[in-house]
Amino acid sequence: MSPLDNALLAIERACGSGSVIRDESLREGYAGDESETTPCIPEAVVRASSTEEVSQVMRAAFEHGVPVTPRGGGTGRVGGAVPVRGGIVLTFERMASIKHIDRNELTTRVQPGVITGELKRTVEEDLLYYPPDPNSRDSCAIGGNLATNAGGPRAFKYGVTREYVLGMEVVLADGTVLQLGHETKKGVTGYDLTALVVGSEGTLGIVTEATLRLIPKPEATVTLLACFSGLDEVAPAVQTLLSQGHVPSCIELLDSEAIRIVRPEAGLTIPDETKAILLVELDGEAGRLDGDLEVCGNALTDLGALEVLVAQTSGERDRLWASRRELSHSLRRQAKNKLSEDVVVPRTKMADLLRTCAELSDENELVIPTYGHAGDGNLHVNFLWDDPDQKRKVDDAVKRLFERVIELRGTLSGEHGIGVLKAPYLPMEQSLALIDLQQRIKDVFDPKHILNPGKIFPADAKRFHGVC
Ligand code: LAC
Ligand code: ZN
Repeated sequence: MSPLDNALLAIERACGSGSVIRDESLREGYAGDESETTPCIPEAVVRASSTEEVSQVMRAAFEHGVPVTPRGGGTGRVGGAVPVRGGIVLTFERMASIKHIDRNELTTRVQPGVITGELKRTVEEDLLYYPPDPNSRDSCAIGGNLATNAGGPRAFKYGVTREYVLGMEVVLADGTVLQLGHETKKGVTGYDLTALVVGSEGTLGIVTEATLRLIPKPEATVTLLACFSGLDEVAPAVQTLLSQGHVPSCIELLDSEAIRIVRPEAGLTIPDETKAILLVELDGEAGRLDGDLEVCGNALTDLGALEVLVAQTSGERDRLWASRRELSHSLRRQAKNKLSEDVVVPRTKMADLLRTCAELSDENELVIPTYGHAGDGNLHVNFLWDDPDQKRKVDDAVKRLFERVIELRGTLSGEHGIGVLKAPYLPMEQSLALIDLQQRIKDVFDPKHILNPGKIFPADAKRFHGVC
């Protein structure tokens, strides 16, 4: 029997035969994610139902040296859940319960398979709020959000996933179960391994439960669209708006290509001459929001907005956000191929980044729609092309984009992670010593390299740095 067969036998014994899927037509559904990573069909899919079962799965995989790729909602953008080395995909559909909401402590204890949007809606019924809001929130899972340290539009005001994680139960590669962090609001005992594991893309351990911090739900929300006649006007507008002390819950940028897609769906009449939009949302006490809306709207008009449109009803807001949340999928339908980047620059350098995108587009005759979380300097730069011959041009343009981002003291990924697609570029941003240190940490957590292998670290980092 092969090592895989041996491992699966032990897993079936521990978790029951229904936990292991070997039927190819079912395994196909676990081969890819929402990125351009080439799908790889796993040799088996295992559905775990408890921490104990995850531990048994890892014990068997460890003993037989079988790769295990944990998978959340499969909405990743960099191939993080793609089982590039084969073996087992471990899924959490059966570990999808919100175990507890503590209204006094403002915490919730959740399993990794909980869909993020469901958690948000559930706590909101109790007038509580879980702020992280990746745009895939209706299909992504908390486990995946923890793996990538997911962000979203409201990260601007409220921060990313990591800022809401107090503690986690984690299963290591050899099946050891650990409790990381704490349940309390404060806690500084030992190294902050919670922070390390959040964002480690499933390469250090498997989260089987997490205690997340909640906040009181903002009483009211208003959404406005500031329409500008030129893309070059938006970066200074964001800068000035924030220096004036406005604290929106998000500031999202849409360029003209994004506007073309959103316009028919948005439900508001966007002026024809609009070339860029800032989607700004304010939240807080109901009694103050009308005043804040007026001040912010006036500020945006003073900053050159042609028009400031306000979504008046919750229906209008929902419609607007539905089209914004779909943007990434809608762009994918515009061409045969799409590569989506997730770069971040200091907010003061956003104008330089937008200029670089425009130059790359002109010089290479490529369509490069750009949108995203302008308040954070985090833009999704999308390369669209039909002709396979254009791929080389795209690769060159991506490299030049990354070089520029690093020159501007930015970073290659704000919220999607490195996974497979960005791994070759990691050495552009990080020194060999830093990559080496991280790989040694990986060795400690996962000495046999069975946990989500083939992710984050480029195989040829040394060559990239000119070492060999
Ligand atoms: C978004 C995803 C792609 O912001 O991060 O739409
Ligand atoms: Zn995003």
